[in-house]
Amino acid sequence: MSISKALNRNVTSQNTIEKRLRMECLIGATQIIAPSTGSDVVKGLTQTSKSLPPCYFYDNRGSELFELICDLPEYYLTRTETIILQQYAGEIAKITGACELVELGSGNSTKTRILLNAYQQLDYPLHYLPIDVCAGILESSAKQLLRDYPLLQVYALAATYELALAKLLPTQLPSRMICFLGSSLGNLTPNECSIFFSQITEALQVGEYFLLGIDLRKSKQILEPAYNDSQGVTAAFNLNMLEHLNQQFEGNFDTPQFEHWAFYNQNEHQIEMHLRSLRSQIVELRALNLKVNFALGETILTEISRKFDLNIIKQELTTQGLLPLEVWTDPNQWFGLLLCQLQA
Ligand code: AVJ
Repeated sequence: MSISKALNRNVTSQNTIEKRLRMECLIGATQIIAPSTGSDVVKGLTQTSKSLPPCYFYDNRGSELFELICDLPEYYLTRTETIILQQYAGEIAKITGACELVELGSGNSTKTRILLNAYQQLDYPLHYLPIDVCAGILESSAKQLLRDYPLLQVYALAATYELALAKLLPTQLPSRMICFLGSSLGNLTPNECSIFFSQITEALQVGEYFLLGIDLRKSKQILEPAYNDSQGVTAAFNLNMLEHLNQQFEGNFDTPQFEHWAFYNQNEHQIEMHLRSLRSQIVELRALNLKVNFALGETILTEISRKFDLNIIKQELTTQGLLPLEVWTDPNQWFGLLLCQLQA
């Protein structure tokens, strides 16, 4: 093939990709529409028990580190959910029929491919609407998907769940399925969780679907290593939140002066992840006009990762009008996948 022909072909395929991709940023570096004011950071760092919202994990570096976590031997979650999805994706596609796939916290969209394959096999049109707080990973994964699925159309939204759910336009397909995989639900407190479910029901029409992947309760001996891996990737992921805040809010966190700390709180059925201050220190976030005092040993709660009981969550979903049609697990019952349908 001549060089000009090769270039031409390349241009054509690029064009097709551009034509099938729409991307909108409701947050992020450009901060055009809804700038992250950092009021959540100020609030969290000025409380008696300091905390930070887990969405600040996911800058480009944080999203990369999270991908590494997903492949760790100790982190059974991704592997287990993938096995369940592979087993039941065909069934999911048959139940829902042609539908638009909306994914909250899409990340690198690896698991989405399993669903896309199932819908493709049934010759359904492929409409995918990934939503992530990290615009960088959103764009690169969308482009990779468009290269791999020639008939796919992608509408990518860089946004928080809340903003995105409030902004969803009516789907052009017969139905819609909102996917919330990887047990990201575990980041929400029970109260936040029920608010979140009502946002889901608001975003769906009666008869549409909600696909939820959740990590189930199990022994501390399995749970704690998953958040304290031997290679220190989870520690790096946790500490990276401080680098992200430095970047975004002109901060001067000295990350070596903090350490990763994660444990399973049996009473609350949740992993709690903290950053512990290794000395007494003052940190400044200039863009927020904020100075924060840390005592030696003081911690910031960066994440809770709740572990669920299938019967309790089924009950809660049902109460909210999201009827679980199918509940699938792995042979160990470590992870659960629920396909729910919005009732009238
Ligand atoms: C993306 C929230 C599901 O809680 O397991 C992984 C994030 N934190 N290792 C989880 C996480 C530390 C993850 N979620």
